[in-house]
Amino acid sequence: MDWTSARFALDFALLNRETPQPTWWGNLGYWPGTEDYAHAAAALAGQVAERAQLSDGDRLLDIGFGAGEQLKLWVREYGVREIAGLEVSPAHLALARANTAGLPAGLDLRHGSAHDLGAWPTASFDVVLSLDSAYHYRTRWQFLAEAWRVLRPGGRLSMADLVLGDGVSDVGAVVMRRLSPLGSLPAKNWVRQSEFAPRLEGLGFASVRVEDATEAVLLGFAGFAGRHARRYFLRTPWRGWPKILLTGAGAAALVRWGWVRYVLVSATKPG
Ligand SMILES: C[S@@+](CC[C@H](N)C(=O)[O-])C[C@H]1O[C@@H](n2cnc3c(N)ncnc32)[C@H](O)[C@@H]1O
Repeated sequence: MDWTSARFALDFALLNRETPQPTWWGNLGYWPGTEDYAHAAAALAGQVAERAQLSDGDRLLDIGFGAGEQLKLWVREYGVREIAGLEVSPAHLALARANTAGLPAGLDLRHGSAHDLGAWPTASFDVVLSLDSAYHYRTRWQFLAEAWRVLRPGGRLSMADLVLGDGVSDVGAVVMRRLSPLGSLPAKNWVRQSEFAPRLEGLGFASVRVEDATEAVLLGFAGFAGRHARRYFLRTPWRGWPKILLTGAGAAALVRWGWVRYVLVSATKPG
């Protein structure tokens, strides 16, 4: 993995190690009903797509698509024919280009960062998606202002994202804001769960929903990380296992303390 990929993601090859077909998912997964990483990762993508009411006529902008597994899902399961995407990691972009070669859709995959969508004109997309990625953006709020601009009136936004729990103490919130840049999560992105919807409404979004998926995502991933890393850690301890284990154990502790929640966020730009 190159430095940018290592900063913003767990090691995709390790996460997908047990999948029967080679897959390159990189998200935390949606775990009810499965212990299999690729199924869980695809299920989280499905949760985001369903909330966007993704369909074949949509012109889609996807930010932080990683190695491109989700792009294949949008085309195969939802029939999307026109996708633009932005990814900050050159290594992930290269993987995604190889992974989606031959896909029957128009793909315009670019290198860049979510806070600047200047490559695309105002009102040019029906849907903007961000799957398990927006907590990294510098900042999420700049991305959302840009998402608002590039969505056409009536367009839909859908994200899987991470927030502070409403029960976090002021001290806990300060600790999270101080320490999270170490994990490439900008301090400004941390808001309490109940503050998210007003921030989106402040940008002009309507029909805002912020749904809690903490148990399904964070606790599911913590269980997987424990099982999976224990099985392989001793064989290859120098690779990305410590980060996977730390993410799982850290997520479980932060959820237990009420400091962190995982959310599925959707909204529309009024027509
Ligand atoms: C946790 S991974 C999820 C990857 C992918 N969405 C998936 O579900 O497999 C987060 C992704 O967001 C990308 N990313 C992080 N910050 C970004 C930014 N500012 N702009 C665009 N992509 C970004 C990372 O490089 C990484 O590929």
